[in-house]
Parts: sequence; C-alpha cells; structure tokens
Amino acid sequence: MNQILIIDDEPGIRDVLKDVLEDESYSVITAPDGIEGLAILEKQRVDLVILDVWLPNMGGIEVLEKIKENYPDIEVIIISGHANVNLAVKAVKMGAYDFLEKPLSLEKTLTTVRNAIQYEELKKENQNLKNYLFVDDEIIGSGEAMKIIRSIIDQSAKSDSRILILGPNGTGKELIAKEIHRKSHRAAGPFIEVNCAAIPESLIESELFGHEKGAFTNAFNHRKGKFELAHKGTLFLDEVADMSMSTQAKVLRAIQELKFERVGSEESISVDVRIISATNKIIDEEIKANRFREDLFFRLNVIPIYVPPLKDRGDDLHELIAYFMEKYKRNSNQQVKVFSKEATALLKEYPWPGNIRELKNFIERINIMTDELEISKQACEKFLNNQQIAQDEPGGLNEFMDLKLNEAKDKLEREMIIEKLKNNNFNISRAAQDLGLYPSNLHSKIKKYGIEIDK
Ligand SMILES: Nc1ncnc2c1ncn2[C@@H]1O[C@H](COP(=O)(O)OP(=O)(O)OP(=O)(O)O)[C@@H](O)[C@H]1O
Ligand SMILES: [Mg+2]
Repeated sequence: MNQILIIDDEPGIRDVLKDVLEDESYSVITAPDGIEGLAILEKQRVDLVILDVWLPNMGGIEVLEKIKENYPDIEVIIISGHANVNLAVKAVKMGAYDFLEKPLSLEKTLTTVRNAIQYEELKKENQNLKNYLFVDDEIIGSGEAMKIIRSIIDQSAKSDSRILILGPNGTGKELIAKEIHRKSHRAAGPFIEVNCAAIPESLIESELFGHEKGAFTNAFNHRKGKFELAHKGTLFLDEVADMSMSTQAKVLRAIQELKFERVGSEESISVDVRIISATNKIIDEEIKANRFREDLFFRLNVIPIYVPPLKDRGDDLHELIAYFMEKYKRNSNQQVKVFSKEATALLKEYPWPGNIRELKNFIERINIMTDELEISKQACEKFLNNQQIAQDEPGGLNEFMDLKLNEAKDKLEREMIIEKLKNNNFNISRAAQDLGLYPSNLHSKIKKYGIEIDK
C-alpha cells in the first residue's frame, strides 16, 4: 500500500485530504508542520509527500529542500494558496513534482497524486533495470570529433602517459577515462576515481594519501588513500581544477615522484599508478586567474583530449538518440517508440546545454512519461522546456510576464527569427529550414515584424 504524508497546518485540509486519499486506499499520515513531518520521514517509509508551501516554524521551501536532500526518491506535491503561487513555482523548479492551488479540486488532486506515485514507481523500476542492464560502457558516435578521440584513446591506452580530458558537463569525460583504462595493460588493476570537487578541503589530503591512526580527531584507524588504492591501476582525478592551491602542491609532488606520505606518518609510500584527469573548467582561464598551477597543468596534460559539446558533434546526436532509445526499449520490454519528424527536428535544434547526460535523461524521461508510440514534438517540448526552465536563471520568463500571451508569443517569435537569421548569415532559405518554416512563410513574418535584413 502506498504511504502518503500530508504536511499542512490547516487541520481542515489535512482531514479532508486524508479521508479522500484513504478512500482511494492509500495509507495516510499527517503532520501539522515541517519539523514534525521530517521527524516522520526519519522513521517511516513514505512514497509521496503533500506539502503546504506556507507553513509555521519552517517554511515549505525549506522542508522541500531537506526532503530532496535526504530522500531524493520521494516525490513531493506542493499545495499553495493563490497568493503563494510564486513559491510553488519555485518549489517545482527545485524538484517538486507539481503543485496544486487552493481551493483544492478533488479530481485534480487525485490525478496528480496518482501520476506522482506512478512516476515514482516507474522511476524505481527503471533504476533497477538500469542497475542490471544499463551499463555505461559503450562510446557512441562516429563523427569527426569522436573519430579523433577514439584514435587518441587507442594510441595512448597502452602507454602510461598522463592524460587530461577537457570538455563541458556531461560530454563523456568519465566514460573516456574508463575506456582508456580498459584498453590499457592495467585493465585487470583497479580504476579509482576521486572527485576533487566533492571532497571538503579539510579531508582531501587524507582522502588522496590516506592517514595513520590518530593523525587527527576521528582518525580511529589507519586508512589507505586513493593513490594507494590505485596501485597497479589507474587513478582518475575528476574535476581536477577544483582543488585548492595547497592541495595542488601536494598532488604535484605525488604525481611527479609517485611517492607520498600518509597524513600523520613520515614514511614514504611508492606506488605504480597511471594518472588520468578531467575538468570542465576552461583551464587556461584558471591558470591565468592563479587558481590552477601551471606546473601541475603541464604534468597532467601530457596528452590532452578535448571533448566538444553535443551540439558541435553533428550526426552523433542521431546515433546517440537511436542508441539510448534502443537501450531503453530492450531494458524495459516496451513497444518500439519513435520520434516524429517534427520532434526529431526539434531535438536537432535544441542546444543540449547538459550534453549527453541531458540527452540520456531526456530519453529516459520521455519514455516513462509518454504513451505515444510516435513521440510528438509537443511531448518533447514539454519535457525539454521543463528542464530549460529549471536551468534558467531566475527571471528567465520575466521579460514576458507583463505581456499578454499573444504579445509574448510575437516577441519570442520575432527574437527567434532574428537569431536564426543571424546564425545563417541572413540566408532566408536556410533560416527557414532551421525554423521549420517555408521560406515564403518566413518572408511574410519578416515583413510582419519589420525585421531588417542587413547582410
Ligand atoms: N559518446 C557516448 N556514448 C554513449 N554514452 C555516452 C557518451 N558520452 C557520454 N555518455 C553518457 O552520458 C553520461 C555522462 O557522461 P560522463 O559522466 O562521462 O560525462 P562527464 O563529461 O564526465 O560529465 P561531468 O563533467 O558532468 O562530470 C554518462 O551516463 C555516459 O555514459
Ligand atoms: Mg565526470
């Protein structure tokens, strides 16, 4: 039986919701404020939280933050009064499933609850499948950039040379690092990853080099560091540009000599480790701004691999879409779904700021959330936009909010046309193609909006 927690300070709403949901055979617990609600989550399994955004003691947004931080799998539906819709929208951007406006409509409430629970179940099922089958190992893409990357992988894998992988978020840097390891003579040895950005400054040294018993408070036992664990294998220093200057100095010495001391010990340890590192920072800028040591950069960067963003990889996009669709289908026993022509065009146009990770998540999401066998452009828009809105700086919609819908549409249309014209050097037929319009149609819109064509 699915368990729902209602957090609302109005007893009336709690009681009505409880009755209605129990009639639908959900099991329901209630709490009058966030603090009590969070205490319940600590003790009981809950599938869904219905959360009032306006609460005494601890505001709904803060409660949501805590839930998402500690129980990322639990879906949250926000209830808000008309006056607090802004907060509800904010909550959705922070990961709430949806919001309901007061006065609550019974039907809408039940549908939203049903969908949220179904979404949560599908997500879980999907996660399990993924754990079994969705192994992230194959590198897809036969475009120019991937060809070059593949040949560097093949050439460098056999040597022990250090490799620095550069490129934006989600472009596959980690995947490439693992591939190099797999093709190297160290394949049977460990592949040890350190996320330099995720480890607090005070712990990074012991994380990398290990520590002796009693080296600092809480060091109850001696512990091996990542350099030691990677012996005879590969050490992957991820987000390497996020290390502090003092850690960089220590790492520099360790990779130069492949020798280091555990924290709290004088004894040097030597290891046989191959170093691969990666960053999504523009490393030249980091060096110029004195945030990254140039000497460390030269040490790490014996062989550079630059991984371009997805939007610059041409047909790789289609191959990746086909690959992820096929993989999803195979793992979920779903019927074959395809993207309509218009949907495909839209996906091609979309800038994919989160690159391949975003594409992969999008495909998973759209497969879960739509029943269409031919996935429409509208469905894609819905799920792409959601993400774009979530990533926008606050205020991304603001310039439109004072306008009527028609005016806003016109404004957006005008701006998009100008942008596409510029991108295509004011070549009307190419811009029209990009926009999915007939050239004659584009002509009339150019006239309508009084856009000047200055070549
Ligand atoms: N060429 C590719 N073929 C198939 N899957 C890919 C490819 N590139 C990336 N992926 C998948 O996309 C996701 C993101 O890749 P990965 O974690 O390697 O990116 P990253 O560059 O390390 O990202 P970040 O900078 O955010 O750490 C992973 O699930 C990975 O398997
Ligand atoms: Mg990574």
